[in-house]
This record gives sequence, structure tokens and C-alpha cells, in this order.
Amino acid sequence: MTGSIGILTAGGDSPGLNAAIRAISRSAAADGRQVIGFRDGFRGLMENRTVRLSSDVVSGILTAGGTLLGTSRDKPHKMPVGSRTLDMREKMAEVYEANHLDVLICLGGGGTQKNAFGLMEQGLNVITVPKTIDNDVYGTDVTFGFDTALGIATEAVDRLHSTAHSHHRIIVLEVMGHNTGWLALGAGIAGGADVILMPEIPYDFDVVAQAVLRRSQAGKNFSIVAVAEGAVSREGSQELAEARSRIAAADSKQERKEAKAELAERQSDQVGNTLRLTRGLEERTGLESRLTILGHVQRGGTPSAGDRLLATRLGTACVELVREQTYGVMVASRGDGVEAVPLEEVIGKRKVVPGDHPWVASARSVGVCLGD
Ligand code: F6P
Repeated sequence: MTGSIGILTAGGDSPGLNAAIRAISRSAAADGRQVIGFRDGFRGLMENRTVRLSSDVVSGILTAGGTLLGTSRDKPHKMPVGSRTLDMREKMAEVYEANHLDVLICLGGGGTQKNAFGLMEQGLNVITVPKTIDNDVYGTDVTFGFDTALGIATEAVDRLHSTAHSHHRIIVLEVMGHNTGWLALGAGIAGGADVILMPEIPYDFDVVAQAVLRRSQAGKNFSIVAVAEGAVSREGSQELAEARSRIAAADSKQERKEAKAELAERQSDQVGNTLRLTRGLEERTGLESRLTILGHVQRGGTPSAGDRLLATRLGTACVELVREQTYGVMVASRGDGVEAVPLEEVIGKRKVVPGDHPWVASARSVGVCLGD
């Protein structure tokens, strides 16, 4: 007699989540297993808010955006409960037992890998499936959601061309990516942006302004700048490094708390960064400039064919692992196949764009300014 499989979706939603839920539920049903979904991420697990993912419930969801289970950014070990923040991992383990689960499958990004690992330490069998439009989960070639967001961001770059051209303007397009520039780089290359800025390469204002001016001198009196929300100038990057070293050097708990708050404030001023960039370029080049922030449009709507395929591939492979009782792993995409990567190897790491990545080389080869 086999137990049930639990599933939850956590972190920012990502196109392809429903396709993965459907793949897991259908594959598990073929084994005669019951699949129980928990609503709104780890909060639903704590509160035992469930939905039985029968074949009726998962029917017709392959093409739907978002997640039918709902999601949240709640962390099991730091859960706001009333006016307090509590470690609720034990409670979650009780709910796991009460539902007679063999395994809990957590669909999420970098934070979810860590949270799932925390539950594993509590004795739960867990498997994770990586998703995020940012494509920055360590240990997997790619995450689902990225391809859809890449398509949306590329279309935005395409569309901005005609209006920037007509008005002889610089248009700065901010795309998502707090810590990594996969989306900005991919959409920038695919859409033909003139400048691409990302967190991995702190930019020099003057270098960017010069690139735009060179275009004007060559008779191209408009420019498109694709920028990841977490991109920072060299000065900004220096300030962040100093804030980080203040945390490391803090002598007391209070000092550390204050230094952390300062870092968080600097990091949260991302819209401010892009606005400053837009205004700074206008001042330095004398060209009228506008800012477009694409925001959550990138996470919405129906998943691309590529994301549906990837989510289905990872979802079915996940059930294979359940059959083998391989737990404590993330189902990573590796070429056309999958690999079970131990969670210990994934947590606390991030897949950033390496300086020698082929996309970086290609961007430079076609004359894109990367701000350095
Ligand atoms: O983690 C994915 C992501 O889409 C990031 O690109 C973005 O910075 C963040 O989520 C936005 O989070 P929220 O939807 O909670 O504002």
C-alpha cells in the first residue's frame, strides 16, 4: 500500500506551474496514487488547506498561467503567525503525517530549494522541481517560466523599437531579474537592444552614454537599453559591497541588524536605479529618454510550448523518482534529460550569468554595449 503524494507551489508564480502539477498528478494517478495539493505554498501546508488533485481537477490546466494551487513567499522557519514570526516546521511535519504522505513535492525557485531542505531536515521526504522566470536556480540547465518570460520581454524590445525610432529617443526597458541578468541578456540579444545591463556586470554611466552617442553620430538617433531590475552602476555596486562588508564586520546584534536593513534598503531601490539610469542618460547624451518597466506582465499568461514541455518533462521525471524512492533531490533539467541533484548541492547558491557565457560573447560580437 503506497501513501499519497503532496504538492505545493511556492515563491513567485511562473508559467508552466500548472503543466507541472498536471504532469505529476497524471503520472501518479497511473500508479494508483492520490495527489494532494496544498494551497498558497508552505502556508497552506502549515494550515492543512488541501485540494485533491484528481484527474478532473487537473483537466484543462496545461495551457493556464499562474498556479491553480496559489502561492506565497512564506518560509517554514520564519512564518508570520498573528503578530509573531515562528518556526513552523514541526507543525508542517505533523500535517505531512496526518495526510499519510510518502513525499512532498515543492515547485519553486532558489528560496524554495532552501525551504524544502529545511523540511527534509525535519524528517520529511521531499523532491523539488525548479521554476522561475529568472532562470537562476543553481544546478539545473534551465527553469520553466523563463522561456515564456523571455518571449514577452523580447516582444517588448521589438515593440519599443518603432516608437523609439519615431521619436528619436532612448527607451530604457526594465525587465525582471533581481540578482541575475538571464532575461535582460536573452531578450536584449533576441530583440536587438543596443545596450544590455545586468547585475553581473556593473555598468559605467559614461560607457553607456558613449555607446548611445556613437549610434547618433552614425545616424541612428534612437537606442534601446534592456536592463535587469537588479543592474547597478559601478558606484552602486561599490556601495552594495560596502554595505555587505559592514554586515560582516558588525560587532553587535544591533549593529548587524542595522547594517542588514541598510543593505535591504539599497537593494530595494531598484526602480530608483533604473529611473536614475534613464535620467542620467538623458543628461549625458542630450537625447530625450523614456523608461518602460515591464514588471509582472512577464510572469502572466499562458506558458510557451517550450515551458509546457519542460514542466511536463520534469513533472513526469519527478514521479519516476518517487517510484524509486529517491528523495532529498531537485529534478534538474540536463540537456534533453533530467538529473536528480541532491538538495545540499543546490541550496544557498545561484546560477548567475558567467562572464564567459556564449550569450555574453555573442552580444559583444554583434556590437551590444554591456556597460563595461
Ligand atoms: O523571483 C522571480 C521574480 O519574478 C523576480 O524576477 C522579481 O524580482 C520578483 O519575482 C518579484 O517578486 P514579487 O512578485 O513578489 O513582487
